[in-house]
Amino acid sequence: MKIQSIRGVRDILPGEIEKWQWVEGIARRVFARYGFQEIRLPVFEKTALFSRSIGETTDIVEKEMYTFPDRGGEMITLRPEGTASVVRAYIEHKLYNPPSLIKLYYMGPMFRYERPQAGRFRQFYQIGIEAMGSASPMVDVEVMTLLLDFFRELGITGLKLEINSLGCPECRPQYREALKTAIRPHLEALCTNCNQRYERNPLRVLDCKVERDREIAATLPKLCDHRCAACEDNFAAVRSLLDISETAYSVNPLLVRGLDYYSRTTFEVVSGNLGAQNAVCGGGRYDSLVEDFDGPPTPCFGFALGMERLISLLPDNADADLQPRPDVFIVALGAQADRASITFAARLRAAGFAVERDYDGGSMKSQMRKANRAASRLALIVGDNELAAKKYTLKNMGNGEQQEVAEEDLTTAVTSALGSPAAD
Ligand code: HAM
Repeated sequence: MKIQSIRGVRDILPGEIEKWQWVEGIARRVFARYGFQEIRLPVFEKTALFSRSIGETTDIVEKEMYTFPDRGGEMITLRPEGTASVVRAYIEHKLYNPPSLIKLYYMGPMFRYERPQAGRFRQFYQIGIEAMGSASPMVDVEVMTLLLDFFRELGITGLKLEINSLGCPECRPQYREALKTAIRPHLEALCTNCNQRYERNPLRVLDCKVERDREIAATLPKLCDHRCAACEDNFAAVRSLLDISETAYSVNPLLVRGLDYYSRTTFEVVSGNLGAQNAVCGGGRYDSLVEDFDGPPTPCFGFALGMERLISLLPDNADADLQPRPDVFIVALGAQADRASITFAARLRAAGFAVERDYDGGSMKSQMRKANRAASRLALIVGDNELAAKKYTLKNMGNGEQQEVAEEDLTTAVTSALGSPAAD
């Protein structure tokens, strides 16, 4: 019986994984520069953690969570995102003691039962950042700057930073009512989804993707005309700090995000090269979530980016030097040479070199072909004559130059041909 992977779920194979590792390495380096430390979170949590934080009436909670009772009857959900878990861990481990700004990042798989299409998967990977414990607009801007630094180091261009402010618990309820009143006369023209959203989550009508609905959304009252003075000041501060840090952005008054925990600054980074799923990254401020879970008042700001979408945006030549290559390919001719090559391989690997060999004992020609195909830097030829003379041929596969090397000089000769092994 042939069993295949589940729809919307994929393997990341050698050949592609090198790009992922490279991206993750750069993320760790850039994040460390800004003082962020890694947190590893569980892949599943109690369902209530997600339904209460993301919001009972969001698409994620209503339609997309992988939720099931475990064998003890507890309702469990495969995490659809990371922020809720970070908040849970922050409170559980009292990371607010002593009070300071805690800067965390995470990487890993998330699960949403969405309709699979280009750039949309049911298991997808996120890299996320959460800065917890400051309401300063400086934090908003520094985190967005970090993100753009990261994209720059990856060589990704053509991205747009879109920002908005979603107001706060003071001003948003009034806006919500004004919006509902304005939507009511359009209900017949709006899609079925928006009709449901109208009652439960009217702000989501603003970012419906249906063309006709977008035209209507453009005519609806804007949050910017209903924000309170404190939120306006805060948003002005964020924009002016972005200007000072010479960060290009545009204000998108229709940007509302699909999770309920946001207040004030929200943002997305979008690309024209991603098709319908054009957001590579989204995030914003969530100032009351920690308190909602009985933690101390802790204003927070964060984002998560989609790895699959990010990888698809890498420049074509990004992986030119990423594919692993052996340093030395041992061409062993005959049973005795095979045995000797075990020792040579062990010695070279212990010195830090990547060593490949042929396991099936082909002819010299076929083994050299394999060394070429593996793009090995050097070939070490071990045959009967070489064994008798205890001198082996080391061939530079780049320029074809050969040299005779005595057994005891093997590691030195490889080191002088290649330099010291690359640090792992
Ligand atoms: P989100 O906008 O739901 O935010 O997801 C962030 C990113 O994850 C998206 O911009 C997209 O690139 C990627 N993504 C989401 N769903 C899928 C999918 N089905 N397939 C492929 N990629 C996907 C959050 O998750 C928030 N937790 C972000 C955040 C952190 N806000 C504050 N802190």
